[in-house]
Amino acid sequence: MSNEDPIYPCPVDEDALPKHIAIIMDGNGRWAKEHNLRRTKGHEAGVETVRTIVEHCSSWGVEVLSLYAFSSENWNRPAIEVNALMMLLKTFLRKERDQLHQKNVKIVAIGDIERLPSAARKELELSIEKTEKNTGLILQLALSYGSRDEIVRATKKIAQMCVDGNLRIDDIDEELISNNLDTAGIPDPDLLIRTASEMRISNFMLWQISYAEYYSTKYYWPEFTGQCLAEAVEEFSSRLRKYGGLG
Ligand code: FPP
Repeated sequence: MSNEDPIYPCPVDEDALPKHIAIIMDGNGRWAKEHNLRRTKGHEAGVETVRTIVEHCSSWGVEVLSLYAFSSENWNRPAIEVNALMMLLKTFLRKERDQLHQKNVKIVAIGDIERLPSAARKELELSIEKTEKNTGLILQLALSYGSRDEIVRATKKIAQMCVDGNLRIDDIDEELISNNLDTAGIPDPDLLIRTASEMRISNFMLWQISYAEYYSTKYYWPEFTGQCLAEAVEEFSSRLRKYGGLG
């Protein structure tokens, strides 16, 4: 979004706002098809929505925004699309880094970052480094991310601690597992949004979303606006979260 675009007002009081919003951005390809455009144009339009939603979360006071930008399974797409997505990521980070920094946004990443092409990885590392001390919105980008892969990597780390004699099996608990995931130190999502009418989780933060409220919207990601986010937040605020208890 450009600086002139207005921010849609936050629909709820601060205490009713989800602290952590996670989004499975879906429907870029379908949006492009409906507009007789190439799929990559859909991803380009999707980047504009990323800007808009980051602006809204930052201005409303959301603590963490997690975006599923590239899954470990997305490597199986045609090379032309993978390359376009990596190029978009690189350009987004290079262009937006300073502005995000000015807005006190802290950029972090989860996933098998080593797999990213070096140019994109470099922009990501520079962005993480530059915004490291920021205290505003945490923008958590899931890149080459798969939840099962993340859990396998965490399990290996924990097993190694046991083998090395630094951890007893009886001391393995939920907190230890959480602390060994890529998301260590980040609170679990409260609200999980998926666009384009899909009802799947697609290997996204399986451990962390245990008690997240799920919200599906018909809008394709390039159509998703600040108002759409406000509707999701409003719906979230009306849900009774029981965590297995009686509420
Ligand atoms: C799903 O749409 C979207 C993706 C696989 C990638 C999302 C990437 C972006 C929005 C742009 C890059 C991100 C950042 C953070 C700069 P799809 O292609 O699966 O859509 P379809 O199901 O309609 O084909």
